[in-house]
Amino acid sequence: MPHRFPRIAALALCAATAMVSAAACGGASDSRVLTMSGSLVGREGEVIRRQLERFRQAHPGIAVQLRPTPDAADQRHQLYVQWLNARVSEPDVLQLDVVWTPEFAAAGWIAPIDGFHPPVDDLFAATVAANRWNGALYALPWFVDVGMLYWRTDLLAEAPRDLDALMRMAKDVQTARGATGDRGVPFGFVWQGARYEGLVTVFLEHLGAFGGAILDEAGRVVVDSDASVRALTFMRDAIYEQGVVPQAVLTWQEEQTRFAFQNGQAVFMRNWPYAYALLEDASESRVAGVVAVAPMPGAPGGAPTAALGGSTLAINAYSDQPDDAYRLIDFLLQPEQMLERAAVAGQFPPRQALYDTPELAGALDIPPSEARRIIEAAVPRPVSPVYSQLSEILQVSLHRALTRQQDPRPALEEAASAMRMLLARLELSPS
Ligand code: GLC
Repeated sequence: MPHRFPRIAALALCAATAMVSAAACGGASDSRVLTMSGSLVGREGEVIRRQLERFRQAHPGIAVQLRPTPDAADQRHQLYVQWLNARVSEPDVLQLDVVWTPEFAAAGWIAPIDGFHPPVDDLFAATVAANRWNGALYALPWFVDVGMLYWRTDLLAEAPRDLDALMRMAKDVQTARGATGDRGVPFGFVWQGARYEGLVTVFLEHLGAFGGAILDEAGRVVVDSDASVRALTFMRDAIYEQGVVPQAVLTWQEEQTRFAFQNGQAVFMRNWPYAYALLEDASESRVAGVVAVAPMPGAPGGAPTAALGGSTLAINAYSDQPDDAYRLIDFLLQPEQMLERAAVAGQFPPRQALYDTPELAGALDIPPSEARRIIEAAVPRPVSPVYSQLSEILQVSLHRALTRQQDPRPALEEAASAMRMLLARLELSPS
């Protein structure tokens, strides 16, 4: 029998905890309390709190309590694994990283949602495909993330054509402006290089640029190909040979990268769409008005590549109120909510029809047609019930190579062989 938190305890928690906004807590007349996990990176907290309050007004009797989760994808994953392994009934609605759905579905931690007949025809196909497991749909895309290149229009006349041009342009600015002083630009290019999921997405973009992949189309591990070695060598050399990427990135996640760029310390930044609105906020950002985005550049042998990321919403399989949970998911996925999220947090909606509307054009900092082009070409990470384990193996090797503890080729060979062994052991290898 799954363990369930008593509702009364949830209400007490809602009143007592400082983590939860008063607006998202129910009044005395609310008889049901739904709980939802959510990320608060950038302006996400502002959007979700407003929307939960509107949901409550539209559904008298249902209060929603927000459970904030850690910013780092891997830490959030760990927390969810603890909750769901313990079969707790809360949060009822889970914000999942798009790469976790197969794992959570295979573990029986999230409930299939086909029974609610969610309309999916208008959603980007890749974002829906990532949420299917064994033929059933387990989650719905909430917002789409794609890796993008941010660049400074006050320092450069145009975006780089390829990764070599990016290196040259960055170095020119670094040299011309000097590394110190008020107007110096010490860093050429900043990305997420800490040992966590974000590093895998940055690597995937370099990998695609050079023509490599983690798995091939048949699902075989090919992350030790020559193209992969070239991609990882390029990333390492950008730090130690070129001096374009600061070594500090090896401890940075999304927010540290944004802070460096928004303080005017970098020529280029790789980040997700959420950063744009914050960079344009002159009260916090020194680069407001001089930022543009472009697709991540390509390199010889490959093509410009954006990693496909983003969040999905799923129902906790142990929830004792799945119908209300679906009601909340459906509400959060309505065009009004997606447009508000785009306007406030800069996050891209998964609904294709919105990309032809003036509302989305008014909400986003980049033309929706361009956002759509990047989304449609974005590369997903492997869809696997053991994705987190595959990623962890890769993270260790990538980070070893980037900290020069190991050369790129042996690091990738080791990762590839550990990944092959894992898949073989679990009988998940392609036949
Ligand atoms: C963003 C993306 C997610 C990715 C994570 C890595 O949250 O939406 O898909 O795994 O960044 O840091």
